[in-house]
Amino acid sequence: MSATPTTFSFGMIGLGTMGRNLLLNLADHDFAVAGYDKDASKVSLLAEEGAGKPVQGFSTLPEFVDSLHTPRSIMMLVPAGKIVDSVIEELRPLLAPGDIIIDGGNSHFTDTDRRAAALEAAGFHFFGMGVSGGEEGARFGPSMMPGGDKEAYQVVQPMFEAIAARVEGEPCVTYIGPGAAGHFVKMVHNGIEYGLMQLIAETYGLLKNGLGLDNAAIGQVFTQWNNGRLQSFLLDITKDIFAFQAPNTDHLLLDDIKDEARSKGTGKWTSQVAMDLELPVPTIDTAVALRDLSKYKVLREQLATLYGPAPTPLAVEHAAFLTSLEQAFFFNMVITYAQGMQLLAKASKEYSYGLQLAEIAKIWRGGCIIRSSFLNDIFNAFQQAPQLEHLLLDERVRDLVTQAVPGARTVVAAAVAAGLAVPAYATSLSYFDTLRTARMPSNLIQAQRDYFGAHTYELIGHEGVFHTQWTPAHEDAANKQDTQEGPENKSEQPVIPNK
Ligand code: 3PG
Repeated sequence: MSATPTTFSFGMIGLGTMGRNLLLNLADHDFAVAGYDKDASKVSLLAEEGAGKPVQGFSTLPEFVDSLHTPRSIMMLVPAGKIVDSVIEELRPLLAPGDIIIDGGNSHFTDTDRRAAALEAAGFHFFGMGVSGGEEGARFGPSMMPGGDKEAYQVVQPMFEAIAARVEGEPCVTYIGPGAAGHFVKMVHNGIEYGLMQLIAETYGLLKNGLGLDNAAIGQVFTQWNNGRLQSFLLDITKDIFAFQAPNTDHLLLDDIKDEARSKGTGKWTSQVAMDLELPVPTIDTAVALRDLSKYKVLREQLATLYGPAPTPLAVEHAAFLTSLEQAFFFNMVITYAQGMQLLAKASKEYSYGLQLAEIAKIWRGGCIIRSSFLNDIFNAFQQAPQLEHLLLDERVRDLVTQAVPGARTVVAAAVAAGLAVPAYATSLSYFDTLRTARMPSNLIQAQRDYFGAHTYELIGHEGVFHTQWTPAHEDAANKQDTQEGPENKSEQPVIPNK
């Protein structure tokens, strides 16, 4: 298609995998779209793949901007961080007030807030939108999480609804909430993704090193699971990976891949924000930590030699163990989603996002990386009780979890006894066991804090905070020299004397 000025209704900056495929998806839905990339080879690829479609690539920014209808709608799909700022800086002098800029990358939500404030002050519209689905999702139907400037979103809403994945006829895109809500929700989506991926990796380890199954048998387990209640995109691709031969060999490509997992940061951000909000997501934290731990290959090899021998195979009956493993995986999956949803609920209050958790579960059911059958249950739970504090409080979820817990215990106990690492499995189970503990042993931590640092404690049945002198005065003085910490809260409350 030949370009004429102001021909196109939507523009994309960044013609990498996601940007290019989203543009092609839009063009398939009869939207006339333009793309820009500094890299001429990406512009050529767009021309090649978009032949015969209403799409055109540009390798100069002014030409690209001039080709768009005004007010312009321009989306960026470039790597998160400084590149987003430099693209905005380059773009701004070419734009007119009222133009819309959309950041569709994985930007940190605080960056999105900062950029929105600066661009709005300059008369532009700006909003952040999480996009999930990888290459195939972008091309044939992603899940999208737009937040921020609602008026601006409404301008492009028909386009995004047209290209989104659909479940039961409904598009997997909805306005998420004000500010950086869209990027925040996408970040937590990715945190859940990290958790689920770690659980699948641990399952692979159990099947391979615990049961001694070969790749074909492992692939069968994942295939079978994916045909049942565990159906999910991640298990679907996993079963494909277990059928993919390395080119010109008789073994799987998987066996040639280094066991050092990389990341781009969204899982870590999820854990960081969760800690800031004091809302525990330990399965996600574990997944982030284990990606990092995997990179210490040389150290792991040294310690494997030093502390060998390798873990023993599991002393279990295979068929019964596989039944338990399916239960355990289901249980862990529920826990992982539950942690993410609770983080969303907490953030929604903290940042006034007004998140509708049912709507979020609904748009995650199609197109995105964490799509799964179980998201229907999550959707139902939050639709019935929008203010539900924790997914485990839902009655149907309670029934499902209660039925799966024995399997989770069997698997973790067997793995621990054999010396097989199952950190996310074990963490999820301990998280659950702690959450259902009405009285935790944390009273002892409070006593210790008060003992060494006079940090005070609260008493059952009494208002206020208290401090005790736990040792005779001379010992206390000696103890105090050992700590740099002083009282955190100079209390006027009575001191409970030593007995
Ligand atoms: C992505 O954003 O591409 C993935 O969802 C997460 O990427 P990562 O595993 O490299 O962090």
